[in-house]
Amino acid sequence: MPKKPKYIVLLGPPASGKGTQATRLREELDLPHVASGDLFREHLKNESELGAKAKEYIDRGALVPDDITIAMVMDRLSRPDCEKGAILDGFPRTIAQAEALDAALVEQGHKISVTPSIVVPDEVLVERVGGRRVCRMCGKTYHVRFNLPQEPDVCDRDGGELYQRDDDKPETVRERLKVYWKQTSPLIEYYRGQGVLVEVNGDQPIDAVTEELRTVLAG
Ligand code: AP5
Ligand code: MG
Repeated sequence: MPKKPKYIVLLGPPASGKGTQATRLREELDLPHVASGDLFREHLKNESELGAKAKEYIDRGALVPDDITIAMVMDRLSRPDCEKGAILDGFPRTIAQAEALDAALVEQGHKISVTPSIVVPDEVLVERVGGRRVCRMCGKTYHVRFNLPQEPDVCDRDGGELYQRDDDKPETVRERLKVYWKQTSPLIEYYRGQGVLVEVNGDQPIDAVTEELRTVLAG
């Protein structure tokens, strides 16, 4: 019998480590990593119409409107590799997005398996963002102190150039944190109410967070 699909929603503020952890876990879980921020950055790179629209919001640290975001992520989730489930990172980010995801899953007879919420104090997040570097080709994430590439400014995976995201400027980061607390943090109670929320301590070394997540995901 085919395995029941597993939908994991990684919650957490900007720079809490959602992308870092999803990249580490996707192979062992054999699930695709669906990151709304990465999908938007892909559109920006390809200079699509959607990318141009999203840029207006991303550059000032605001959320892209729900209708655009929901349509983009649902399209991604409808592809064949998501039949076994997905690790969702950065989506949902509003109650309306969470409700749209629930409705789409229910329609297919599925539901969210677990929602790990990665908890990190705001002051640690600001420091992490400043040192983040991302591969221009594959999007793999590094940090100038906590997660170094083997060769400076070069991606270990494909040799791509590492760059700093435009929205990682200090003033944009402060706005993203404000937006997180106002618009996204209500999802913590939303998923607690569904009995799927588990808090994970994200303020520890990357390996230790992965280990804690493994335990949560095995449960
Ligand atoms: P998005 O790309 O999703 O950004 P985000 O949620 O702000 O999250 P980040 O990617 O900044 O952080 P992360 O948690 O993935 O951390 P990472 O692993 O990189 O969204 C960007 C924008 O797109 C949004 O602002 C919005 O405009 C738009 N958007 C996206 N989704 C949307 C939605 N659903 N609705 C509307 N708009 C949407 O780690 C950060 C750094 O820390 C790295 O350098 C890493 O190496 C390092 N690090 C990670 N873990 C640790 C650790 N344990 N110790 C030390 N360093 C660590
Ligand atoms: Mg990310």
